[in-house]
Amino acid sequence: MAPLKLGVLISGRGSNLQALIDACTEPGFPARIALVISNVAGVVGLDRAVRAGIPTVVIDHKAFAGRPAFEEALHAALTDAGVELVCLAGFMRLLTDTFVGRWHDRLINIHPSLLPAFRGLHIHERVIEYGARFSGCTVHFVRPAMDDGPIIAQAAVPVHSDDDADRLAARVLAEEHRIYPLAVRLIAEGRLQIEDERVIVQNARAPAEALLNPQPA
Ligand code: GRF
Repeated sequence: MAPLKLGVLISGRGSNLQALIDACTEPGFPARIALVISNVAGVVGLDRAVRAGIPTVVIDHKAFAGRPAFEEALHAALTDAGVELVCLAGFMRLLTDTFVGRWHDRLINIHPSLLPAFRGLHIHERVIEYGARFSGCTVHFVRPAMDDGPIIAQAAVPVHSDDDADRLAARVLAEEHRIYPLAVRLIAEGRLQIEDERVIVQNARAPAEALLNPQPA
């Protein structure tokens, strides 16, 4: 089967993009990145794509009269490149219902919390402030509400009592780099179905054990 064509939307560092680039170079990985779009020029993520020989385009939201025109340009670039699945990877613009609707079930996002907890921004600070014992990350299909939509994959990490936001962010990010390629693989292999806004995964296991934090002494 031909590899699934991905379009990756970024705004910055692009470490999740890099995880997808690396996955796509593995023999047998069922997807390829056809296009990387950044809404910000000069970001590190664009260099990563160029180095990997992937076509890039900067579509600067500030160059458009409004969100619909900006999204029209995004949509045209994605369809021209033959993109079949759009991956948001640190893309810092909210998308309208129109764009989200056009890519229904073909648009995914990675978020650095265990959704539906801690939507929005400044997540790691808020997790620590709240005193949560676990955090993590989520890959989900995108729906019009922010950080909402059927969950594809999650990874959990412990929150340590001496964590600051940067340390926790690094621990979560390492897991983001594992679950984003995993989610793309599951989609590309046709192993997901969405029923009543829940994702059903074929031939996958869940861990048998519960995790405790703190651990009994
Ligand atoms: C990640 O933490 C991702 O979960 C969030 O934005 C950050 C992007 O990081 N949506 P990077 O640009 O992929 O390094």
